Amino acid sequence: MTAEIIGGKGFAAEVTERVADHVTRLKTDLGVPPGLAVVLVGEDPASQVYFSSKGKRTKESGMASFEHRLDATASEKDLLNLIERLNGDPAVHGILVQLPLPGHLDDAKVINAISPEKDVDGFHVSNVRLLGTGQKSMVPCTPLGCPMMLRERIGTLSGLDAVVMDRSNTVGKPMAQLLLGDSFTVTVEHSRTKDLPEVVRRADIVVAAVGRPEMVPGGWNKEGATVIDVDINWDDTGGGKTRLVGDVEFDGTRRRAGATTTVPGGVGPITIACLLANTVTAC
Ligand code: GUN
Repeated sequence: MTAEIIGGKGFAAEVTERVADHVTRLKTDLGVPPGLAVVLVGEDPASQVYFSSKGKRTKESGMASFEHRLDATASEKDLLNLIERLNGDPAVHGILVQLPLPGHLDDAKVINAISPEKDVDGFHVSNVRLLGTGQKSMVPCTPLGCPMMLRERIGTLSGLDAVVMDRSNTVGKPMAQLLLGDSFTVTVEHSRTKDLPEVVRRADIVVAAVGRPEMVPGGWNKEGATVIDVDINWDDTGGGKTRLVGDVEFDGTRRRAGATTTVPGGVGPITIACLLANTVTAC
């Protein structure tokens, strides 16, 4: 078996095209474009790349981008004052504070200072509560794209077994909630899970977001499974050569699974497209 490649870029382009149509209509109706404010505190290299590409993609989609950089030493008060200003700014419909924050800042306090209607990350406790109780909410961007892709590829999802390899508030938990909403039987894996190979072997859908290079050998997958590999890791074990890999070993997965995303070019582009879609929803 050779697994079909689930093309993240093509899927992201479709979402982005739909977003662009909405942006055009909203501009006509409101007289202003939807606006997304992105806040970066400090100089974490990966965060700087995400920050820049979010700003660039926002502008490309016809929306207004408000980019705010604060020094790594910025105080909690500085950051909360900025968020308060953005909450009250009618040109700003979505606010995203790039994580991780420097250690002296309290992530939860900062995220919960964002107005829930402008919380395009879906991390505010009000949105978490709504999602957990199956109500309409802002949904975190990475989990939002995955069931869309699965529905398009598989059609009926009801009753399938899914394993989510991550229990973070930003990816694993919301992903599990969404899959549960689609009537998957969901197992959330973590560092204490017993017999992980067996859990993976049973799963029709594997969603991996543990951030460890090729932690899952392709041979663990059930034949015909669908694999969604969320994380991008640098693997430097190749004798001086560095390459980008996912959490799941790609070559073995290609031979055994029914379909798989790639790293890079899989979930990453969809995440940004969903951020733009969330901004339109917020607007
Ligand atoms: N850092 C890595 N991914 C994300 C994300 O989805 N949202 C925010 N705010 N920070 C991140």
